[in-house]
Amino acid sequence: MVKEKELLRVEDLHKSFPGVKALKGINFQVLSGEVHALVGENGAGKSTFIKCVMGVYKKDARSGGIFVENKEVDIHNPDQAMKLGLGAVYQDVMMARHLTVAENFFLGKLPHKAGIIDWRSAKKNTDKVLKELEIDVDSSSILGDLSIAKQEMVAIAKMYSNNCKVAIFDEPTALLSTEETDILFSLIRRLRDKGMGIIYISHRLEEIFELTDRITVFKDGTYVDTVRTEEVDEDRIIELMVGRSVEDMYGLNKPSRGETVLEVRNLSKKDVFEDISFDVRKGEIFGMFGLVGSGRSDIVSSIFGAEKPDSGTVLLNGSEINCKHPGDGISRGIGFLTEDRKHTGLFMELSCRDNTNALSYRKMSRFGVISRKKEAQNADAFRDKLRIKTPSMGQLTKNLSGGNQQKVVLSKWLSNDSDLLIIDEPTVGVDVGAKVEIYKLLESLLHQGKSILMISSYLPEVMGLADRILVVSEGRQMGIVEKNAYSLGNFDDEQKFIKLASGIV
Ligand SMILES: Nc1ncnc2c1ncn2[C@@H]1O[C@H](COP(=O)(O)OP(=O)(O)OP(=O)(O)O)[C@@H](O)[C@H]1O
Ligand SMILES: [Mg+2]
Repeated sequence: MVKEKELLRVEDLHKSFPGVKALKGINFQVLSGEVHALVGENGAGKSTFIKCVMGVYKKDARSGGIFVENKEVDIHNPDQAMKLGLGAVYQDVMMARHLTVAENFFLGKLPHKAGIIDWRSAKKNTDKVLKELEIDVDSSSILGDLSIAKQEMVAIAKMYSNNCKVAIFDEPTALLSTEETDILFSLIRRLRDKGMGIIYISHRLEEIFELTDRITVFKDGTYVDTVRTEEVDEDRIIELMVGRSVEDMYGLNKPSRGETVLEVRNLSKKDVFEDISFDVRKGEIFGMFGLVGSGRSDIVSSIFGAEKPDSGTVLLNGSEINCKHPGDGISRGIGFLTEDRKHTGLFMELSCRDNTNALSYRKMSRFGVISRKKEAQNADAFRDKLRIKTPSMGQLTKNLSGGNQQKVVLSKWLSNDSDLLIIDEPTVGVDVGAKVEIYKLLESLLHQGKSILMISSYLPEVMGLADRILVVSEGRQMGIVEKNAYSLGNFDDEQKFIKLASGIV
């Protein structure tokens, strides 16, 4: 293994958008054989940095240079970046979902034989790379049929087969289960051992400490420091990122559990989930844990009216409800933060203010006239509470960083005043500091007598927050585990949850 050879160096990088200086003099270096973490609060500039390096964005003219293996390069588009040996896997894997794995692999450069595409050799070459990286995927499967985790693996293998030297991962585990994360990590380690340099972006500090050799911290578009992972602890990194220490993330002061609010009895939907029964009580956070694709999101969609179950009953405050569409759920006081913010959570072309207030206009209007003042007040209050980073809440939502968009969706649901709030992966991509603020808001909802049903594939979060956890595996209810049966951070307890969720009793 070649170690310590410099693969990529970036000097004094600047990038501005209208009204926003996203990067203000960034320095960065990646060596071969290292996994280098890039951390910082939401809006710190991580994704913008990556996009400048990959040629998606044009860096400002005043910037210093970008050097690949000590040679200054000029990168104008991702294709050029790829030819220089730079590759990136973005959170929403950007490949053709309707094509096969092998087709995706050779997209734009399919092997020819006398003008005819040589599918046999395309498949053979793909298989060879998949085998070399020990990736368990059939190259003739349609990409869109694979799990997100497998799609990511294919993207990585493709990058590898293009002689990639520096591989960049922007929050690759946000949509993966714990088990899939482990598989991804061993693949990343294999790439590292082959002498590649890896840039790894994540808000999950446990991952950073498990996987990386060095950590670089950005804050507000500036470079803060680069440290060796073994020489620091989580507290130090949080301090560098946030500028203050964050203590006891999950230490909520909850009210005692009250009467039953939601009762789900024998809910079934053919081939999706079967015989699900549980209840959620006033003042509690009821957790639901399962691997991605286990049916958890379908179960809650059926409660809310976004999907139709075949049989079973749902009772809210003792009376049967039969939500036929999401509007039914909302009018009965059920809020539902979906896991997919881009498609069902946000209007990307509208302002952050409009998105935040989208469900609260009735509260804010008199005789049909919306109070602009109340609108602005509510939006600004959430901007301050959740530290939404934007020059103004009038900014279009699509211009916000990923984590800040998530905070806007949350603001919408938190201002909606629902009695039962269903939250599916509530803190995906949200930084540590803002997570704590979100948890505090959830705590205050509980004290107002509300209930929360939380779905998460991020174990530390469910284990840390929920009073009870229902584990689902392939649509089957594996059990409901009470808080006193496990402790946060205990490896054996975590393994028990993962086994249950994998269907192993
Ligand atoms: N197209 C754009 N137009 C205007 N502002 C933008 C645009 N893209 C990014 N920004 C701003 O640049 C800053 C940096 O955003 P970036 O997406 O790089 O943050 P990040 O560190 O990746 O955050 P996160 O952890 O939330 O993903 C933010 O303030 C964001 O609002
Ligand atoms: Mg980002």
